Amino acid sequence: MPLSRGIRIDKFHAYEVIKILNQYNIIDRNYKIHNIDDYVIIPLIAEAIIDQFPQLDFLDDEFNFEEYSKKPDSIKAILKDKIPEDELNKLTLPTSFDQIGNLVVIDLKEHLYPYKQIIGAAIMELQPSTTSVFGKTAKVGGPFRIRQLELISGQNNSTTIHREYGLKIYLDIRKVYFSPRLSTEHKRICKLVKENSLILDMFAGAGSFALHITNQKITSVISIDINPFAKVCFEESQRLNVLQGYNEFIVADARDQIYKFLQNGQKFNYIIMNHPSGAIDYLVDAYKLLEERGTLFLYYFANEENMLDNCNQLISDRIEGSITKIHKVRRYSPEQFHICIEITK
Ligand SMILES: C[S@@+](CC[C@H](N)C(=O)[O-])C[C@H]1O[C@@H](n2cnc3c(N)ncnc32)[C@H](O)[C@@H]1O
Repeated sequence: MPLSRGIRIDKFHAYEVIKILNQYNIIDRNYKIHNIDDYVIIPLIAEAIIDQFPQLDFLDDEFNFEEYSKKPDSIKAILKDKIPEDELNKLTLPTSFDQIGNLVVIDLKEHLYPYKQIIGAAIMELQPSTTSVFGKTAKVGGPFRIRQLELISGQNNSTTIHREYGLKIYLDIRKVYFSPRLSTEHKRICKLVKENSLILDMFAGAGSFALHITNQKITSVISIDINPFAKVCFEESQRLNVLQGYNEFIVADARDQIYKFLQNGQKFNYIIMNHPSGAIDYLVDAYKLLEERGTLFLYYFANEENMLDNCNQLISDRIEGSITKIHKVRRYSPEQFHICIEITK
């Protein structure tokens, strides 16, 4: 244990003193604070000036403080000992990754392929609760908008329970669309919708909108998705949470289901259409299902340039509703944003 300078405070005043020392930034964070009998021994940085604090009990001798273990905090730091330095400096390493429950998903660029096992193990070391690391080997695609994922470290199990805002969401990330990057948007819509309304989520995926909304509000949500496994995940999530609202999940092509609702005269107070690459093709018919003064949330990938004009054109070419807001959900690519166009009837 290394020797360092410290002060001794009786434990009843330790909290107040630590608060003051923090304001002066003179606690040495490399070492642990020690409890000895009725006293607390606090390590100080070498620059701390004793004369500034005449009322404190500085230790005459240096103290054997225990050091905090220094864990590497980035993939690059972990790989430092495992890949030659000149090779490491040439690599563009993933700086962020998606944590979905106890699974991690990273963007596995081609140049990183030879290092994928080492990178996978590095992530598991960095995030000890991780059970598997998957690499995205292609963009989302196909009718279910799911990703091709390759296991690069840990167990070959793509099911997990993801937690967001106190909700538990059951998933198999190989079988159903899910993005943890949409949690703020799910929460935003949940705050906007009023209680006792009827809501339609037309491209539900794992049903995150419905779960967030019915977790917080007494209201009814009908979710539709063409992927049968989306319903399996949703029903498991329903079992894992105590929801206040009422839910129904229909496995169907949204267009067929719209026609069924139209035949029955069914109308909705809110319609959510978060399928940014496809929802626009359903807008004309979906709008017919919206109650007077209802709100439709249409998601779309839009260029930043002339966004307002382009959105006005996009909507007025198809329906009579008016745009009340355009909300940027997140940047999707260097040129495009994933946006939510709010339309009222
Ligand atoms: C972008 S993902 C859903 C995202 C989800 N709304 C969310 O916020 O997490 C699009 C979803 O639409 C579903 N889908 C695609 N075509 C469909 C169709 N014709 N009818 C119903 N669902 C469809 C896919 O299976 C996929 O789950």
